Amino acid sequence: MSANRPAAVVVLAAGEGTRMKSATPKVLHDICGRSLVGHVLAASRELEPQDLVVVVGHAREQVAAHLAEVDPTVRTAVQEKQKGTGHAVRMALEELGGAVDGTVVVVCGDTPLLTGETLQRLAGTHAADGNAVTVLTAEVPDATGYGRIVRDEASGAVTAIVEHKDATDAQRAIREINSGVFAFDGRLLADALGKVRTDNSQGEEYLTDVLGILREAGHRVGASVAGDHREIAGINNRVQLAEARRILNDRLLERAMLAGVTVVDPASTWVDVTVTFEQDAVVHPGTQLLGATHLAEGCEVGPNTRLTDTRVGAGARVDNSVSVGAEVGPQASVGPYAYLRPGTRLGLKAKAGTYVEMKNARIGEGTKVPHLSYVGDATIGEYTNIGAASVFVNYDGQDKHHTTVGSHCRTGSDNMFVAPVTIGDGAYTAAGSVITKDVPAGSLAVARGQQRNIEGWVARKRPGSAAAKAAEAVSRKPEGES
Ligand code: UD1
Ligand code: MG
Repeated sequence: MSANRPAAVVVLAAGEGTRMKSATPKVLHDICGRSLVGHVLAASRELEPQDLVVVVGHAREQVAAHLAEVDPTVRTAVQEKQKGTGHAVRMALEELGGAVDGTVVVVCGDTPLLTGETLQRLAGTHAADGNAVTVLTAEVPDATGYGRIVRDEASGAVTAIVEHKDATDAQRAIREINSGVFAFDGRLLADALGKVRTDNSQGEEYLTDVLGILREAGHRVGASVAGDHREIAGINNRVQLAEARRILNDRLLERAMLAGVTVVDPASTWVDVTVTFEQDAVVHPGTQLLGATHLAEGCEVGPNTRLTDTRVGAGARVDNSVSVGAEVGPQASVGPYAYLRPGTRLGLKAKAGTYVEMKNARIGEGTKVPHLSYVGDATIGEYTNIGAASVFVNYDGQDKHHTTVGSHCRTGSDNMFVAPVTIGDGAYTAAGSVITKDVPAGSLAVARGQQRNIEGWVARKRPGSAAAKAAEAVSRKPEGES
């Protein structure tokens, strides 16, 4: 439970983000399996605000639809024209009924690295110091473009925020910048916003002007300095998007490693925020773990593997493979070069081997599909072996059908199981068979043409050829020689 629960968090996300050069609105771009605004919402939720309002404008239908999906209780306020951050917050307050009693926290929708912890600290400072406004600041190596924090030389108190475009040379030398994140007293905020003017270089209502207005009216203005300036970085282009992804990925992997996961090469390992791990899981280089993927204790994944929404059981091994929506049982083995598709469930110690594709297939304990096969829409029992190069023929051109194979079966290489078909427990099938009829338990099914040898055919039809000479040499050898 958050100690300083704000009345509302306002997320500013009406801007267009032109520098992304994208058909997708900026705040909907993804890093580590979540949209930029999704990350901001997740951090904001840690404050447990009574209301969470997102200000939308540019591509607002698309943004609102996304919000409804990721956080259905979020409210939206529409800002028709982007007339500045102050105007945007006014629109949010209107959505909340004009003014709010209690703390209002304002964040930007394009700062995905901001943590709930930093927001808690800001809210804590705001409450403890009894401020009218507290701004989250940071010292940055390059302050270009940011609003600068102007402090009183004697007391060190924040006196104003000056936008880069409106700053003097002396002010531009300041390294402490406005992160765009604030905690406000809700009533004083509404009041001050009514007094914000637009006589600045951009002709906009600057939210930052509220600080000076409140200070001049004799209210307390404070600042909370972020420990890590990278946390407050706003994303404006795809270079910054990649940098933020890298930082967040490092953060996620570091957390996993400290919890006992071996990540052989963090630089080539990519994870989503929703991925979970157990102790002693090992991740080899070139691996992407996405969505609701879970790695259980002691399993080993990679190299060069992509798992989406896949659960890997304890002690299982997945090598050079791709898997989507599958479940790999404990001590099971996948790959190298396997493709598991949705609905695949490998039991304890089961195997999907080299160049094997599976879809909607239940593979029982100890059952092996070792080589070059497609298993679609099938149920296979325990300790069965499927011969190399087999295909579960599940599609008749119109509908998909199911194949059932029992336990302890031995099917031959190069079999076609034409669904719907059932192979009983303990049955065998001959190599090269096209199985179209059910096979009773314990029987051998042979479904292929009989072999015919036409003797002397090469000598008659290909006289003088290398093949004919080789055959002739064999016939001239004395008895007993081989
Ligand atoms: C703003 C701050 C600046 C700070 C910087 C931090 C102001 C006037 N300036 O500048 O001090 O250092 O953020 O990144 O506040 N937005 C709206 N409606 C608008 C305008 C903006 O919703 O009318 C949203 C944008 O979508 C964005 C956020 O507000 O998420 C910040 O706007 P942006 O235009 O990026 O402001 P900056 O110029 O970067
Ligand atoms: Mg910005």
